[in-house]
Amino acid sequence: MRVLVTGGAGYIGTPLCVRLSQLGHEVVCWDPGFFGYHFGETPAGLRLVPKRVQALCAEDFQQLRPDWVLHLSGLSNDPMADFAPRMNWAENMRATEHVGALAEAAGAALVFASSASVYGFNPELLLDEDAPVSPIGFYSESKAAAERWLLARHSRCYVLRQATVMGRSPRMRFDLLTNGMTLTAWTRRQIQILYGGREARPQIHVEDLVDAYVAILNRDALAPGVYNVGATNDNVTELASVIRERMKSEHARDVELVVSDEPRKHRSYRLSWSKLAEASGWTPRRTVADAVDEICAGLGDASLSSSDPRTSNIRWMKLLAEAGVILARTGPVLAEDDEPSALE
Ligand SMILES: NC(=O)c1ccc[n+]([C@@H]2O[C@H](COP(=O)([O-])OP(=O)(O)OC[C@H]3O[C@@H](n4cnc5c(N)ncnc54)[C@H](O)[C@@H]3O)[C@@H](O)[C@H]2O)c1
Repeated sequence: MRVLVTGGAGYIGTPLCVRLSQLGHEVVCWDPGFFGYHFGETPAGLRLVPKRVQALCAEDFQQLRPDWVLHLSGLSNDPMADFAPRMNWAENMRATEHVGALAEAAGAALVFASSASVYGFNPELLLDEDAPVSPIGFYSESKAAAERWLLARHSRCYVLRQATVMGRSPRMRFDLLTNGMTLTAWTRRQIQILYGGREARPQIHVEDLVDAYVAILNRDALAPGVYNVGATNDNVTELASVIRERMKSEHARDVELVVSDEPRKHRSYRLSWSKLAEASGWTPRRTVADAVDEICAGLGDASLSSSDPRTSNIRWMKLLAEAGVILARTGPVLAEDDEPSALE
């Protein structure tokens, strides 16, 4: 199949594009590379287009003829959305309308990388896809609005409400809950738990999420609509305790949990993902312990850097914004014939 992956150079997109290429699909990764490209040697069957989705047009769809569009691009967490609310709306809502309209006109099925955070604060029940959506904050509001638009206007659209993702990806993020707690457990032997740690925060391993996309692509008869995707339903303190136990039993580190208790009513929800499991045969297979082990292995052999600013979206985007202001004043840092390869 021909698959167009927007945001395909990101934390989820990179292993997704690699897997789809390995499965023999023709994959186009449409991504300007805000965080660089981390494919190593570009896999056979994968083509990289270093552009924003706003540049996509009907001619591109005529040329690429995608059977599927996997729409992952956007600003991908609360801190980024709070830092740049108008850009968040442009990237998460308006750009989704643009991609969705082009995909519909071209007859391509679409999977939208939404977020389970659209459920907001609803921690008592196990939420299925019929539970009310009640987003808190710019990020979740933009995802919920984009979902509504797609479900109303795209005839074969799959909205994936993704739990928070964990585990190692070639394009690493440490600004995700499990990954960040594992990092400080390793580097500082400490895990900070904010807001009392009672918020329920479902997790899913990045490779299990890739499995879910593959399952959707493989299941012709799967009904379009909304699907939750997750693997655990622990609250933050429970999650931190699992990480602490694993650090002790497998990585010879005693880790302290430091809880600060200022209250807030932020997102908290527990997910049921049985709809996708029953309809597609997909099932999550990796655990928090797996994520901890692979991150510790990477930190241990220095194949993962704890200080790379690109591993925190907000830190990196603030640096890019600052650099943009300076570069607008100074002009380019490199001469045209300088070799920029060291930057990658
Ligand atoms: N990681 C998670 O825990 C999680 C959970 C729920 C939902 N999501 C959603 O899944 C998607 C992917 O998340 P991720 O963790 O891989 O994020 P990421 O930030 O690692 O990747 C996003 C990618 O989108 C690209 N991008 C940004 N603006 C673009 C544009 N205008 N055109 C084309 N590409 C653009 C970036 O360069 C980046 O490579 C996002 O939409 C995010 O909101 C992520």
